[in-house]
Amino acid sequence: MDITRSVPNRTAGGAGKAGATILFSLKNEVGGLVKALRTFQEKHVNLVHIESRKSKRRNSDFEIFVACDSDHHQLRELTQLLAQHANVVEITSQSHAGSAAAARRPDDECDVPWFPKKISDLDLCNQVLMYGSDLDADHPGFKDVVYRKRRNYFVDLARSYKHGDPIPRADYTSEEVQTWARVFRELNKLYPSHACKEFLKNLPLLAKHCHYKEENIPQLEDVSRFLKERSGFSVRPVSGYLSPRDFLAGLAFRVFHCTQYVRHSSDPFYTPEPDTCHELLGHVPLLAEPGFAQFSQEIGLASLGADDDAVRRLATCYFFTVEFGLCKQDGKLRAYGAGLLSSVGELKHALSGEAKIAPFDPRLTCDEECVITAFQNVYFVADTFDDAKNKMRDFAKRIRRPFSLRYNAYTQSVDVLKDSGSIRTLVEDLRHELHIVEDALNRLGSATV
Ligand SMILES: [Fe+2]
Repeated sequence: MDITRSVPNRTAGGAGKAGATILFSLKNEVGGLVKALRTFQEKHVNLVHIESRKSKRRNSDFEIFVACDSDHHQLRELTQLLAQHANVVEITSQSHAGSAAAARRPDDECDVPWFPKKISDLDLCNQVLMYGSDLDADHPGFKDVVYRKRRNYFVDLARSYKHGDPIPRADYTSEEVQTWARVFRELNKLYPSHACKEFLKNLPLLAKHCHYKEENIPQLEDVSRFLKERSGFSVRPVSGYLSPRDFLAGLAFRVFHCTQYVRHSSDPFYTPEPDTCHELLGHVPLLAEPGFAQFSQEIGLASLGADDDAVRRLATCYFFTVEFGLCKQDGKLRAYGAGLLSSVGELKHALSGEAKIAPFDPRLTCDEECVITAFQNVYFVADTFDDAKNKMRDFAKRIRRPFSLRYNAYTQSVDVLKDSGSIRTLVEDLRHELHIVEDALNRLGSATV
């Protein structure tokens, strides 16, 4: 799954009411506008303003713009309900705190955007920005009625998914398998000379445990079970581009949002969006690597409760590492980014010797332009995942947030460390861990005497 720099202006407030604007287009159904507006009534959200606007995305279409009063939780529930009757294009939420904001203490949590505290909260993090049920006019499948119907099938699967559910198995058509096969075949020719060691180590394991092969598209449920055992990651289906905030939030819980549909068959080597070929071939082999899993999770944890600009910078660092990152191995450049490892053309280009290369430095990388439909202007090189992780850790320390977070793997939740009580609990846990280390060292010493 890719995320872009198009971070929506979502500075959702805490418990108080906020002003929100929602831009949506109507689905092609009778009474669509009435049904869409009824969702506001059902969620007791007060409409302040409504107008229709000519779509900036499609000349022939109109979109509905509404301003309303709603708190953050109302807004999330509303958009979920609204999505049944409309394609939500953009949401903007702003605090109405006004002058009261100045009176707040810096650690006032009302300034902190809502974020998921436990893994099941990810059911609320599903704001799809693009390519859900709505393809752009320049999408290869835009005029293909059969393809669009198929996409809607996968949209419904993803939308109805809840944490803990098994991921529905997709019965892929022969056309979809053929598209996968072409991508699989060409990329596998490049991997030995272009992919990093960790990728090459894990790919055969995926063939063995998840049926990665030319004539079979692996199932997300099998992949999720495999990853869980290898690195603690799991995957959940998503219908299109998630907002960067929601996508990064998933990483904090070692959850990777994966698309399940296949790109359009007219051009197997081009897709303007992530598809299951990109997820399965580009992302999954590295997510099985514990060091890479830790790196990915730390980016996610840094994003929780961060302001919009910090999320944008983190998303950009994610983009130039997890999606388009290069590393040095045995004196040679190798790819570990999924955007490269799932694209024949860009993988060749990035390692051709002609692409611009720069050392990965989050302070500089975070402001680089992310290119979506062409090759990147520059690729960033990390020495190792540990090196990238340490740099991201230092970078994350500078993000303004009135608390620290610690992931609790037992409860699959984040502990908010903001007072002496929560920190004392962490210290007790660390003491227990150190006791185990001490005991292990003592036993080792006894065994070697
Ligand atoms: Fe991706």
